[in-house]
Amino acid sequence: MKKEVLAAETGHNEIVIKDYTFEKFIVKSEIDSIVHSLARRINIDYQGKYPLFLIVLKGSIFFAVDILREITIDCEIETVTAKSYGDEMVSSGNVLLSLSNVKFSGKDIIIIEDIIDSGLTLHSLINRLKHSGAKSIETIAFLMKTGQQKTNVDIKYVGKNIPPDFVIGYGLDYAEKGRNLPDIYKLKSVPD
Ligand code: PRP
Repeated sequence: MKKEVLAAETGHNEIVIKDYTFEKFIVKSEIDSIVHSLARRINIDYQGKYPLFLIVLKGSIFFAVDILREITIDCEIETVTAKSYGDEMVSSGNVLLSLSNVKFSGKDIIIIEDIIDSGLTLHSLINRLKHSGAKSIETIAFLMKTGQQKTNVDIKYVGKNIPPDFVIGYGLDYAEKGRNLPDIYKLKSVPD
């Protein structure tokens, strides 16, 4: 059995959680540069508008904070909690959404997602928002797994397309661990 490496012990090239080994994949400097270029596009595209950023918790928390600090236009911020993975590495297919009683009517909504995998979370959320009277609905996703989507999702702003590996760090978790890692790690090996 491999020793579990605590998420707080940063700087490692490999992290072990529940005997699953993860290797460093996207370093903080690349994360920062992706965030910066996405923010620049939003600042240009939404100039003169007053968008409402809808943060999908919990995974998007770090990405949302980073990108919102670089948004220079007037905006509003709201949150929604979405859960479908539990302690598994694949979506349960059952997306639980907890959306507060926010008025979306007439708003330009920008959904902030950390990752698009099956696409089911985003699909459920957009379905919920469809009848809200929103003026427009777009999505920023920090990561998008290539070829994994089980539903049609139209994402205007994608930070980085990645292979379908399971990833943790920068808000993303495995069984609630690893969210506080500053870099992103991908699954390298599973327990024997
Ligand atoms: C993760 C992630 C996205 C969603 C993407 O959330 O943060 O919201 O799954 O997967 P999908 O495209 O297959 O739907 P999760 O349900 O793990 O909750 P969390 O954000 O609290 O970790």
